[in-house]
Amino acid sequence: MSVQQRRIILRHIDEPGYTADIDCYMKHGGYATLQAAIKRPAADLVQEVVDSGLKGRGGAGFPCGVKWRFISPKNTKPVYLIANADESEPGTFKDRQIIHKDPHSAIEGIILSAYAIQAKQAFIYIRGEFPMGAKILMLAIEEARAKGFVGENICGSGYSCDIVVHRGGGAYVCGEETGLIESLEGKRGYPRIKPPYFPAVLGLYQCPTIVNNIETLTTVRYILEMGGKEYAKIGVPNDAGTHIWGVSGMVQKPGYYEIEAGKATVGQLLNELCGGPLPGRKFKAIIPGGISTKLLRFGEKFKIKDADGNEKEIGVEDIPLSAPGLMACGSSLGSAGMIVMDDSVDMTEVLANTNAFFAHESCGQCTPCRYGSLWIAKISKRICEGQGRLEDVDLLKSLADQVEMRTVCALGDALAWPVQSSVNKFRDEHLAKIQAQLDGKSLEPKQPWSLVK
Ligand SMILES: Cc1cc2nc3c(=O)[nH]c(=O)nc-3n(C[C@H](O)[C@H](O)[C@H](O)COP(=O)(O)O)c2cc1C
Repeated sequence: MSVQQRRIILRHIDEPGYTADIDCYMKHGGYATLQAAIKRPAADLVQEVVDSGLKGRGGAGFPCGVKWRFISPKNTKPVYLIANADESEPGTFKDRQIIHKDPHSAIEGIILSAYAIQAKQAFIYIRGEFPMGAKILMLAIEEARAKGFVGENICGSGYSCDIVVHRGGGAYVCGEETGLIESLEGKRGYPRIKPPYFPAVLGLYQCPTIVNNIETLTTVRYILEMGGKEYAKIGVPNDAGTHIWGVSGMVQKPGYYEIEAGKATVGQLLNELCGGPLPGRKFKAIIPGGISTKLLRFGEKFKIKDADGNEKEIGVEDIPLSAPGLMACGSSLGSAGMIVMDDSVDMTEVLANTNAFFAHESCGQCTPCRYGSLWIAKISKRICEGQGRLEDVDLLKSLADQVEMRTVCALGDALAWPVQSSVNKFRDEHLAKIQAQLDGKSLEPKQPWSLVK
């Protein structure tokens, strides 16, 4: 049987006649969950989210309800909620679909979550390059305010919460939650030194703050509609619910596909839903979850355990689309932005492009990232410009190893993983390119290709 999408978050998106305005949203059941849930004790809502097993959709996959419980019950300071709509990870474009096409589902999710953690002020931090998204959200908030779903005395409950849309300046590092908080406070977006490890302890204006990805918060609306325990039945153990896969690159039908976690494989997504490779081409590699996740090469084999605990060997096409499935094969789900490359692609160019991105986006606060990203990008560039040396391949790996886990924020890991995986898996290709240049030959020209357009 062919694989099907399971649309929960995107359930109405793309339906003929479905629009972003509040009347349309309410005709489809919108804000009914808020009206019912706001009558319940806030702690019940947190429990529902804990029961659901929802993990964050921003990349790190931290359990949402557990994070909410980090706010001390003894806290007396104001609590803030921040919806992270920075969506700065190249290859990721799921949040934009929600913001543009169903903004009220995000707003309902934000108010429900704010109520659960008893925040009276919520923010949506949206990247500077999304002016349309910011406008749509601001209009939607005004519509929701006019109907009593945002602002004072929401639904007559006595609970009040406002939402402010804040546009970032367009920096990848401001998607990192503490860099984001600094930026929201009006400062340079430098990620904060840890500890404290969680903004739930010390966040915005030194107050407890929950930062969640905007898809995570939108999902809360659907969890509270169906109940946490019901939601937990969707997906696979350790990965509840659905993922919106944003597929870009060399497939017939790039786009976004909402799939129940673990219920389809990479091959089913790419061949059945995305229509397969471009004419005459073969898949060569994927970056599964946004540019910072480790590359997977078609043809490589992985040993994983099946449901009965027996070991079996699978290829990239057989990897289940879930956090545990991808982790078992040495990569990660990240933000589910899958970049597909076929046999026309020069992997050395891909790596150079990726490295240029990270060098540009490193905030420069800590030395390993500032210099590591710079040297990695320089070496990659010289390889692409015919100035490479054979030892450069190991040098790239050594630099990446020295950056990994040694930086203030996870941008250092994000820049190291593509280098490590590309050098491990495409060593032959990188070396062949350098050797051909040293021999004065040029390899078969590859399609010019850019990750950072
Ligand atoms: C360099 C960097 C960039 C990030 N960019 C984003 C982003 O654009 N959107 C996002 O939701 N999370 C991003 N994150 C993850 C956030 O720090 C944080 O984990 C997330 O917003 C928490 O939400 P969640 O638990 O709902 O996933 C980024 C992390 C790093 C290290």
